[in-house]
Amino acid sequence: MPLKSSTKFHLFLMLVTAAFLGGCTGDKAVSYAQDIQPVLKKHCFECHTQGGDGLKASGLDMSSYAGLMKGTKFGPVIKAGDGLSSTLVILVEGRADSSIKMPHGKSNFLSNDETALIRNWIDQGAKNN
Ligand code: HEC
Repeated sequence: MPLKSSTKFHLFLMLVTAAFLGGCTGDKAVSYAQDIQPVLKKHCFECHTQGGDGLKASGLDMSSYAGLMKGTKFGPVIKAGDGLSSTLVILVEGRADSSIKMPHGKSNFLSNDETALIRNWIDQGAKNN
């Protein structure tokens, strides 16, 4: 017996939803060396490496993977596997008080693509890949 047209429609909707979700979860593997470090270099290194104000004030040294994962003098700013609640993502997305949005005191904030990249990388485990 042929499928009722309403059943066909439901199947169609399920396919569309699956395709949409698949496209949104950022399946593409993000690389620390190739994707993340260049973004940090462009927006953060100036203050968060040796001699920079951000490193002096917070203790966060982004010049290496180890330094990035170690975080500030108060502790980690990256929760591997959980981009949404990682301090670093909260700051670059401007979800904290705007006075501490990073990059600090600057207008060259990250693009949506750049913040998404960082978030996906953390969601994927914040690996040194
Ligand atoms: C112009 C200098 C400057 C730049 C550029 C900069 N920061 Fe900062 N950052 C600071 C200073 C100063 C502090 C410490 C004082 C504060 O939190 O306001 C800080 C603190 C932080 C903290 C710790 C906040 C906390 O609550 O303990 C994080 C995380 C951080 N920065 C991330 C970043 C990221 C990610 C970038 C690049 C997207 C960046 N910063 C770029 C100056 C900078």
